[in-house]
Amino acid sequence: MTMQRILIIEDKKSMADMLKRTLQSEGFNVRSANNVKDGITLLSSGSLDVVVTDLKLPDGDGMEIVKAVKESYPFIPVIVMTAYGSIEIAVKAVKEGAYDFITKPFDPDHLLLIIKRALSERVSKKENLVLKKEFSSFLKMPEIIGVSKAWQEVMGNARKLSPLKTTVLILGESGTGKELIARAIHHLSQRANAPFVAINCAAVPKDLIENELFGHEKGAFTGAHEIKLGKFELAEKGTIFLDEIGDMAMPLQSKLLRVLQENEFERVGGTRKIIVDLRVIAASNKNLEKEVSEGRFREDLFYRLNVFPIVIPPLRERTEDIIPLTKYFVSLFSREMNKGLLSLSDETQRILLSYDWKGNVRELRNVIERAVIMCDGLTLLPEHFNLTASVLQDKLDLNASLHEVAESAVRFAEKKRIESALRETGGNKSKAAGILKVSYKTLLTKLKDYGIS
Ligand SMILES: Nc1ncnc2c1ncn2[C@@H]1O[C@H](COP(=O)(O)OP(=O)(O)OP(=O)(O)O)[C@@H](O)[C@H]1O
Ligand SMILES: [Mg+2]
Repeated sequence: MTMQRILIIEDKKSMADMLKRTLQSEGFNVRSANNVKDGITLLSSGSLDVVVTDLKLPDGDGMEIVKAVKESYPFIPVIVMTAYGSIEIAVKAVKEGAYDFITKPFDPDHLLLIIKRALSERVSKKENLVLKKEFSSFLKMPEIIGVSKAWQEVMGNARKLSPLKTTVLILGESGTGKELIARAIHHLSQRANAPFVAINCAAVPKDLIENELFGHEKGAFTGAHEIKLGKFELAEKGTIFLDEIGDMAMPLQSKLLRVLQENEFERVGGTRKIIVDLRVIAASNKNLEKEVSEGRFREDLFYRLNVFPIVIPPLRERTEDIIPLTKYFVSLFSREMNKGLLSLSDETQRILLSYDWKGNVRELRNVIERAVIMCDGLTLLPEHFNLTASVLQDKLDLNASLHEVAESAVRFAEKKRIESALRETGGNKSKAAGILKVSYKTLLTKLKDYGIS
């Protein structure tokens, strides 16, 4: 273990020398200054582990040191020394971000105790960070597939936003790739080597989430024996991903808004301000504007998050991506299951293109995985997918004759296919007719017949 460095700022020479001797004999590397100016210079000159400062200094107030550390080195604890009778000032210093205070005269062992406590909290904080770091380095830049114009626009915006600190809101149906885009933004930024910390606001019980996000101080509640760092602190220098933000309870929304505005927060049960440098990305599959108008989501938080929204369209509205994604997943699973690279029959492609993918890319991925398992040959056929069956299931009339079943299946499939062709062409009927290889007139008849507007 390397020597811990302590900076002492104290103008009374006898006191400074005594502290220096005590701390050196405990194995610390001690530097000292006797005024604010030199203290600040030393502060910026090297990596320190703890700062101990007097509050009354010849050229100013020790509070300036507290503020300087808080601003530039929020992870360094500052312990303030104060004369007996000026406790209020010491308390104020703690409120401003000092770790703790000690009143003069004091037993050097007492100070030593506070220093060791401060250091041990700092070490556990660091260990957590390192763990997270290792974890996040496993998560390489994800592979991202997409050729449609809509997807290119999403990626273009992600690229533009990645170097900035701007809050990003990612909206889209379930399974469209919101988390994937969040990770991509992180990996494309200068924060790539710092943690990407995700929290699903819908999955953590309401009464635990504040604790998860902001951590707690020792003794914050019964059972809080240790200080706990929240996700916001763990994501220091990196990115925090607030997934399903639409499910966050109202009181917590207020706290989050404050954190976003001020870049600082308190741990649960504490008054100490924690400053963090991180990028916030939030995501939701809900229509947040609707949540706002129905009073479930704070309007001010919505506007704060909505600085730069990225909206990912559902897969059925970017059908050009279906086959490239399919091919990607096929190769992924073929490799994983040690099968040769499987190809897709034309019929399979047609079915995949006309299916409406309510579960978006995630559903496609699952369907492909199942198909690759089912397939014993080298070509993926409709029968491996079980999709036609599931498409038709809700239409199947168990009293019908075979002829009637076939007819209703055809009608259903045609309707789906016409709808998807119209989506593809942005509602252009003559283009849709071209894709479907029917005359314009036939298409109009079918539209009327199937009640498609
Ligand atoms: N463009 C893409 N290229 C490659 N894989 C993708 C793409 N989009 C989504 N995926 C994959 O699809 C799955 C779902 O994506 P993701 O988890 O990002 O969606 P989500 O929008 O966060 O969904 P939910 O709202 O359900 O949490 C993941 O396995 C992801 O890797
Ligand atoms: Mg998600």
